[in-house]
Amino acid sequence: MKARILGTGSYLPERCLTNDDLAQWLDTSDAWIRERTGIGRRYVSEAGTAEMAVRAAKAALENGGISAEEVDLILVGTMTPDYFCPSVSCQVQCALGADRAACLDISAACSGFLFALSTAQAYISSGMAETVLVIGAETMSRVVDWEDRGTCVLFGDGAGAAALQAGETGILAVDMGCRGSKGMALSCPAVPLQNPTERARYEENSFIRMDGQEIFKFAVRTVPDTVRRVLQAAGIPAEEISHFVFHQANRRILLSVAKNLGIPMEKVPMNIERTGNMSAASVPVLLDELNRKGELVRGEKLVLSGFGAGLSWGSLVLEW
Ligand code: COA
Repeated sequence: MKARILGTGSYLPERCLTNDDLAQWLDTSDAWIRERTGIGRRYVSEAGTAEMAVRAAKAALENGGISAEEVDLILVGTMTPDYFCPSVSCQVQCALGADRAACLDISAACSGFLFALSTAQAYISSGMAETVLVIGAETMSRVVDWEDRGTCVLFGDGAGAAALQAGETGILAVDMGCRGSKGMALSCPAVPLQNPTERARYEENSFIRMDGQEIFKFAVRTVPDTVRRVLQAAGIPAEEISHFVFHQANRRILLSVAKNLGIPMEKVPMNIERTGNMSAASVPVLLDELNRKGELVRGEKLVLSGFGAGLSWGSLVLEW
C-alpha cells in the first residue's frame, strides 16, 4: 500500500508585512530584498502555531472527504511549537476531535513537512496506519530577531496540511538526509541549561542565527542531488514530472536548482513573493494553492522537496 494525498488545506494569517514596512525600522529596501530573495511580503500571525495548524487541517480533511474520526495518526512538522508539551499534534487532535489518532511532532525545520510525509508513507506502507493527517505549521515571527536585517526579512508564518490514505498509488520514492556537522550554520537556541547544580552556560535569546552564504551553497548543491536520487529511486525521468514543489527559501536558489536539473521554470511554482520562507509550512501551502487552482491532475507525477536547518533535506516523488 502507498500513502496517497486525498486532500490539502492551508491557512495564512490576515496580517502581512511588506518590505517597505520592514524598511521603516531596518536599514534595508524593497529592491535589496526582492533582488536577493524574491520576497515582497510575508504574513505574521496573531495566533499560535496550533491554531493555524488546526485551520489548515480542517480544510485538508474537508477537501479530501475524510472525517476526523478516521484519522489514525497526526504528524506535525514544526520548529516553532507553542509549547514544549503538549505537542502541536496533540493540540490539533483535541481541536478536531480526532480521538483515535496518535500524535507526533517532527522537528526537521524547513524539511519538516517532507520528513512527516515520509513518516506517513512508512506507517501506511507497513500497515500501521490507514489514514494520516500531515501538517507543516510555523510561527517563524516568534523566533526571528526583528532587528537583524540578515534574517528577519526572509521568514513568514503559515500552515499547510495534507490528508493521506492508503491506496494503490501515491508516494513512490523518498530520499532524506542530514548533515549535523554543519548544523550551526542555521540555529535557534532553546532554553538555557539552568538547574540547582548548574548555572546558565549561555544567555542567548531564542532567535534564528544564520550564515546565509553557507546555507545558500548547501541548498544549490544538495537539492539537485536529492532530486536526482529520488527520481532514480522512482525510476521516473525528470521530463515526466509535472510540478517540482520546492521549499520556498529563496528565488535565486530555485532558479539555480532548476538550471542544474535542466527543468523549465514553468514546472517550478513559487509563492515566495507573497509568503516568504514559512519553513515546514512552505511546501504544503504551495501544494494546496496548486490543488485549489486545479493545476494538479490525478495520475500526474510530482516531486516535493524541502531543505534547511539541521542541516537537512527530504524529497519524494508521488503520483497525484
Ligand atoms: N538589506 C540590506 N542589506 C542587507 C540585508 C538586508 N535585508 N541583509 C544583509 N545585508 C547586507 C549585509 O550586511 C552585507 O553588508 P556589508 O557588505 O556591508 O557587510 C551585504 O548586504 C551582503 O551580505 P551577504 O550576507 O553577503 O548577502 P547575500 O548576497 O549572501 O544575501 C541572503 C544574503 C541571506 C539573502 C542569502 O545569503 C541567502 O538567501 N541565503 C540563504 C538563506 C536561506 O535561504 N535560509 C533559509 C534556508 S531554509
